[in-house]
Amino acid sequence: MLDFNRRILDQETSKSQNIFRTIGRFAQYFRQYWLGFAFSMIFVVISAWATVLAPELTGQAVDCYLFPSAENCWYTTVDTAASTSTRLEGLGGLVIVLVAVFVLDAVMVGLAFYAMRWAGQNVIRDIRNRLFDKIHQLSIGYYTRNEAGDIMSRLTNDLDTVQQMFNFALLNVIRGVFIIGSIVFAMLRANVPYALVSLSMIPLMLVATQYFSSQARKAFRKARQEIGNVNADLQESIAGAREVQAFNREEESIAQFNAGNQANRDANIRAAMFTSALNPVLEALSFAAMGLMVLVGGYSALNNQPLLGTSVISVGTIIAFIAYIQRLNQPVQQIAILWTNVQSGIAGGERIFSLLDEPVDIVDKPDARPLPTIDGTVIFENVEAEYKPGEKVLRGINFQANKGQIIAIVGPTGAGKTTIINLIPRFYDVTNGAVKIDGIDVRDVTQDSLRSQIGIVLQDTFLFSDTVMENIRYGRLDATDEEVIEAAKLVAAHEFIERLPDGYQTVLGERGGGLSQGQRQLIAIARVALMNPNILILDEATSSVDTRTERIIQAAFEKLLEGRTSFVIAHRLSTIRNADQVLMVKDGQIIERGTHQELLAQRGAYYDLYMSQFSEAEAS
Ligand SMILES: Nc1ncnc2c1ncn2[C@@H]1O[C@H](COP(=O)(O)OP(=O)(O)OP(=O)(O)O)[C@@H](O)[C@H]1O
Ligand SMILES: [Mg+2]
Repeated sequence: MLDFNRRILDQETSKSQNIFRTIGRFAQYFRQYWLGFAFSMIFVVISAWATVLAPELTGQAVDCYLFPSAENCWYTTVDTAASTSTRLEGLGGLVIVLVAVFVLDAVMVGLAFYAMRWAGQNVIRDIRNRLFDKIHQLSIGYYTRNEAGDIMSRLTNDLDTVQQMFNFALLNVIRGVFIIGSIVFAMLRANVPYALVSLSMIPLMLVATQYFSSQARKAFRKARQEIGNVNADLQESIAGAREVQAFNREEESIAQFNAGNQANRDANIRAAMFTSALNPVLEALSFAAMGLMVLVGGYSALNNQPLLGTSVISVGTIIAFIAYIQRLNQPVQQIAILWTNVQSGIAGGERIFSLLDEPVDIVDKPDARPLPTIDGTVIFENVEAEYKPGEKVLRGINFQANKGQIIAIVGPTGAGKTTIINLIPRFYDVTNGAVKIDGIDVRDVTQDSLRSQIGIVLQDTFLFSDTVMENIRYGRLDATDEEVIEAAKLVAAHEFIERLPDGYQTVLGERGGGLSQGQRQLIAIARVALMNPNILILDEATSSVDTRTERIIQAAFEKLLEGRTSFVIAHRLSTIRNADQVLMVKDGQIIERGTHQELLAQRGAYYDLYMSQFSEAEAS
């Protein structure tokens, strides 16, 4: 129990804003699995009843066989003249019934938890599936507005608290309520004044549990903060080792670390004090209740004086009451401790539902049709775009890219280059004007059909932790191994892939770890080559790669661009020279356009950019 307490208490609790609404949402998910939930409740009620029956039967053993009294025995007919062996026989029978009740209790509790988990796990799976679907529906805009960490935390931490709630917290709380209810009911039925005497300790028990658990939680929170500081110190000392040493700050650094470390220890010990104290305090309180009970009962029995006008309490009933009091301890504790878990679970559920309710901002029109195979003419008509309402980042963008042309987009950082290309696959929508492919507004076609025909290679390529083969195949899932290899050969990636430890079967680490940036980009280029799209979008890497890889990538790009309408956010002079049109973007507008030669001749902004950025490269 102690470890259990510690584990449960060492968790952040958060409260839900609208408990009933969230419970209603959970109920909808449970509807499909209501049978599991219903059975769980039935089993819990039976087990609570068995928990109460056992003390009652123990009392009957006394009142029917040891000190038989017809008045107090309902289990059997009392024969005061019965021989010892007959009585023992009867007692034996009662013990068998008692054992059966214990077994029933245990089996019912087991089944109740099983049924609840069955329903709960089904619900968790459904919620997780919906979350995953939702993640794919949300637009790129949503992901730039929200931190990936926050979204991940809903999928993992919040779902975890919900899972804990359904796995044990909720049912333990419900079971606790039923057990306490049944015990109180059984006590009141047996003898009201004695019931009140025995129950007098419950408020104290609740207060004690509440106090100790909230103190323990506070201490755990403090310990967590301190360990966070300690870890941060550690990390800074390692990362900034040179600075620490250069400025002779070792002593300060060590002192600070020691203080945090000490505070963490203190907080943890304090927490241990409260978690360890809870159980003994509760035990003491129930012993106090028992003592009170025995005192009052014994006094009234000895004096043959009934308490508050009721009949004299039998020895068996006193024994039953003592057992009842013992049995109150655990449910009181569980309710007080686990109730916070239920609250956290509901709060976690609320956050999950709010993600599920997030409006999807880019949706297919109801009458959206699939985009026919693209020929490749792209037109921007008076396009305006904004990320925040009222703040235009693109204004009056007009241009036409004909089939097979290469459009180079250049301009200073923050000019709007990425924004322009984001509008073509509809990662964002225009706020005014239109983007048309082969004369069709991109907002009139399905997103699937649009994006499946546009190949995109971004600066920082994302590779999945899978084999090279599968990473390339991501471009077209039904491609055969031969087709994958052919695509890699086309963009000259085959050579380096063959040299990897397991060739095409080499498993890549997260974010393509183990490969150089240039190699990762080659894989991304092969991926798009396999996809064979008619429109291509490239965001050229600015990071430097060695000249050999650079040349290979350059050649790969050129291969890839052949015969496709391409938009390139260009950083390489060679790309710009090859372009049919260069668009010079500044402050969200196209300020100059033409071929590289034409723009140079204009001696305007492009010329300045060229002189500052490329003239050196030109010379070398
Ligand atoms: N997700 C976003 N939310 C809000 N504002 C954004 C967002 N993305 C870009 N912006 C703003 O829009 C403007 C254009 O940004 P954009 O990314 O298109 O520039 P860029 O020309 O691609 O720059 P760079 O060369 O640095 O990539 C910038 O002022 C930028 O701050
Ligand atoms: Mg950009």
